[in-house]
Amino acid sequence: GTIPITLKVNGETHQLRIDPRATVLDTLRETLHLTGTKKGCDHGQCGACTVHVDGRRANSCLLLAAMHQKAEITTIEGLGTPQKMHPMQAAFVEHDGYQCGYCTSGQIMSAVAMLHEPWGDTDTDVKEALSGNICRCGAYPNIVAAVQSVRR
Ligand code: FES
Repeated sequence: GTIPITLKVNGETHQLRIDPRATVLDTLRETLHLTGTKKGCDHGQCGACTVHVDGRRANSCLLLAAMHQKAEITTIEGLGTPQKMHPMQAAFVEHDGYQCGYCTSGQIMSAVAMLHEPWGDTDTDVKEALSGNICRCGAYPNIVAAVQSVRR
């Protein structure tokens, strides 16, 4: 069976009926059709599903939607648009911070959250801060360059 829930995503409040076991990730993608957030591992290991929950980054595959009805969830769609990109999105374009693109939404959501976290200035800090976001193409040097261009 399904249950009624309220979910606040990108500033909009949605009344939904979902499986009580549904994750935030599956609810975003399958119920709200916000497919910018990706599913890599579905086990909290790859970071492709990273969103912001009350301004902090989280792996949405590990969160139950029914337990986040009071949270403000932000996805890549809420960060910017192709016409009006967030500076971090623009930096990823400028520095080619992706190859296949599958990890990119998660990388960008993580990088934006990092701006408000107490990290140092070095490339090593960026690598450490984004170590939960795996890129199988190995675009890391360009990702670090993109993130640093926004931080500097
Ligand atoms: Fe959530 Fe991999 S899909 S961490």
